[in-house]
Amino acid sequence: MKTLPANVETRVDSSLAPRGSARAPSAGSTLAARWLYLKQMLAHPKQMASIFPASRVLCERIASHVRVEPGEWLVELGPGTGAVTQALLDGGASLDRTAVIEIGDELAQHVRRSFPGLKVITGDAMDLGQLLPPGAVGRVGTIVCGIPLAMVPLDVQRRLVDAMFSVMPEGRYFLQYSYFVTSPLKARELGLKAERLDYVLQNVPFASIWAYRKA
Ligand SMILES: C[S@@+](CC[C@H](N)C(=O)[O-])C[C@H]1O[C@@H](n2cnc3c(N)ncnc32)[C@H](O)[C@@H]1O
Repeated sequence: MKTLPANVETRVDSSLAPRGSARAPSAGSTLAARWLYLKQMLAHPKQMASIFPASRVLCERIASHVRVEPGEWLVELGPGTGAVTQALLDGGASLDRTAVIEIGDELAQHVRRSFPGLKVITGDAMDLGQLLPPGAVGRVGTIVCGIPLAMVPLDVQRRLVDAMFSVMPEGRYFLQYSYFVTSPLKARELGLKAERLDYVLQNVPFASIWAYRKA
């Protein structure tokens, strides 16, 4: 990734993919990863909410909407088997300033093995502020939320939304991808401005990428 002068906004773009990295070729799509994903889905259907990991095209489109300024962090919540994580890193996200938080211990171990050097935190994203390295708090440029928020009650959504904004500078958004046709979050009730940035017809099921800012 190019070094840009301070305050110049950049994006994680798949065209900046580093070559020859030591990372696994595709952490989310190996047979072992697919089996692990299915097992977790059967054991924790509410936490997983989808039978399949996000497709490669969806992951790349998510990565293309990430905005991280120099010195800022990128955070992913709910990496599962690492499909989106792979696209974020392939797109140029810094290993040093990317953190992922996964509640499932086996999934977190899988992601840790797949991406040596990545900060993989096993825990509940609700505790985001306490789980992130102190230097990251207040300096998170974008959060990519893979947690199926549409499936959780409004008060739980609110707590997680508050936790996300507590670690980002003013004016930033978090990204949420969803298989719902409409906004997966009740934006007005949560005091959010929702924008559908993208939709991915090639994903099964059809997926949308939403950005949520404080209204
Ligand atoms: C729909 S899966 C997404 C997996 C992956 N990002 C993908 O798209 O293939 C949701 C993920 O969020 C994780 N998750 C659910 N609730 C969580 C929480 N409160 N904190 C952290 N991770 C959570 C689940 O364990 C699961 O890995």
